[in-house]
Amino acid sequence: MRLLHIGDIVGKPGRQIINRALRGLIQEDQLDLVVANAENSAGGSGLTPANYRELIAAGVDAITLGDHIYRRREINAVLESERNIVKPANFPASAPGHDHMVVKARDGSSVAVLSLLGRVFMRPVDCPWAAADRVLEELPAEARVILVDFHAEATSDMQLMGRYLDGRVSAVLGTHTHVPTADENIQSGGTAFQCDVGMTGPMESILGRRIDRVLETTRTFNPTHFEVATGDVRINSTIVDVDPETGRATAIRRRQVDEAEAERLASLVAVKSPSR
Ligand SMILES: [Fe+2]
Ligand SMILES: [Fe+2]
Repeated sequence: MRLLHIGDIVGKPGRQIINRALRGLIQEDQLDLVVANAENSAGGSGLTPANYRELIAAGVDAITLGDHIYRRREINAVLESERNIVKPANFPASAPGHDHMVVKARDGSSVAVLSLLGRVFMRPVDCPWAAADRVLEELPAEARVILVDFHAEATSDMQLMGRYLDGRVSAVLGTHTHVPTADENIQSGGTAFQCDVGMTGPMESILGRRIDRVLETTRTFNPTHFEVATGDVRINSTIVDVDPETGRATAIRRRQVDEAEAERLASLVAVKSPSR
């Protein structure tokens, strides 16, 4: 089976390119499941219920978040009621949301998805290693395909999680830095790994925000509004092939979609639509 993990979707440009390209991508790359990190979907920070519905309608099957999860508090009800969206598993039990999900992929496999937050150069949070152990223990036996979104700042931290979970999950894919890394590989135990999938949003930016604003505030300490940028919008994502019987990864590759590629993918679906 084949799954796609989409890196941090940033603001309206990020949501728009997903709307434009994802159906074509699912069709062309024969994707059985689409997981997306959506923590920056609402104006660059957080996720609203409307954004949630928009992404699901666009073809996203499962949503992970990160340190910006509760930036829009109206998402809390969705986190409690829906079973295709999770909070980081190392948040306190009392924090709104579920610590893992089991979703059905198009090939019929049950796929478990969980998210963990790193602790290096980030706000203190419960132990991600212990949380991973706890959730893996709780998973139903039929969920042999397991994806872990490790939302972390430091590449060393990400590599440690990849090695810690090697042979126990199908893939450990990083998010949060918004910069894709070229280290995708399958570790010796059969777990696909990549430090960071990258972001889905405007590349002509500082991590998705307007360059002039971030530069002004950084140089002068004069506070500005870090508006979401608009130039050179791309999807950064990673495709992992997994043997559904064993849960072991068999292939991993990066999949980047720029605006021209998004148009091509959109036309694939438009041509195949029976209503035209
Ligand atoms: Fe992010
Ligand atoms: Fe983040």
